[in-house]
Amino acid sequence: MSDDAPVSLTRHGRVAVLTLDREARMNALSRATLLALGRLGRELADDASVRAIVLTGAGDKAFCAGADLKERQGMTENDVRVQVDLYRSELASLDRSKKPVVAAINGVALGGGLELALVCDLRVAAPGAVLGLPETTLGIIPGAGGTQRIARIVGEARAKELILLGRRLDADEALRWGLVNRVSPAGTSVLDDTLAWLAPIADGAPIAQAAALAAIEASYDVPLAQGLELEKVFYDACLRSEDRVEALRAFAEKRRPVFQGR
Ligand code: COA
Repeated sequence: MSDDAPVSLTRHGRVAVLTLDREARMNALSRATLLALGRLGRELADDASVRAIVLTGAGDKAFCAGADLKERQGMTENDVRVQVDLYRSELASLDRSKKPVVAAINGVALGGGLELALVCDLRVAAPGAVLGLPETTLGIIPGAGGTQRIARIVGEARAKELILLGRRLDADEALRWGLVNRVSPAGTSVLDDTLAWLAPIADGAPIAQAAALAAIEASYDVPLAQGLELEKVFYDACLRSEDRVEALRAFAEKRRPVFQGR
């Protein structure tokens, strides 16, 4: 474990991988970890060579066991308030990322750990992963957006079941609930599997992907009629892109398109 560098960044072609690197503490989210995620998230947002971001955890036990409960023990009520605000400020660039963000859930994802995965656009789980929001069993509620995001993904009834019962789902159950998009085949590394699975994103048209994400996100906040108008605006951004012309040209020439993000 390194508290100087609690998150590591590696590059796999056009995909940036952020790894929570605090294996001895089950990759729990300390203040330093949140700050590192924020700094790296902002850096990657401005890096045109990066087409997608993967979040994962070091080791094979934990994606992230949530808040660093040892650090939290020494905190005052006000310290905790400040820490909860940090989740919002530091995860904002990943949350609003124009590049797709994928969680490769390599082990337990509990509390803030699952909330971190919920900030991502897509989730892939290792067969042994365990997902849950146990906060109410600790006398609190999910405070990093969990109560808001989980219901949008799995529906209200299941969100309440997860949070009120402190239920822990295994990977297959999470897949049935739609909480994860995919479970990696047994015996493969969830990171390798995720990188292979998201190749169409890494090779795809970034302007179209960003527009699709923005259009889908907008649908939560506005009535349908207004959402349909917004879709036109986002469509127009694609219409004006060189990538659209390249896709048509590639189709005519019976080859794969090469997208530049312009
Ligand atoms: N914060 C800080 N340290 C944590 C942690 C957390 N959230 N979760 C685990 N750890 C530490 C343990 O204290 C232990 O360290 P130690 O050996 O120095 O005491 C180490 O990680 C391994 O944990 P351990 O409980 O022995 O492993 P396990 O495989 O039996 O269980 C978990 C793993 C994640 C299921 C269990 O540790 C757990 O339930 N953690 C709390 C998760 C939680 O409730 N998070 C929500 C917070 S809102």
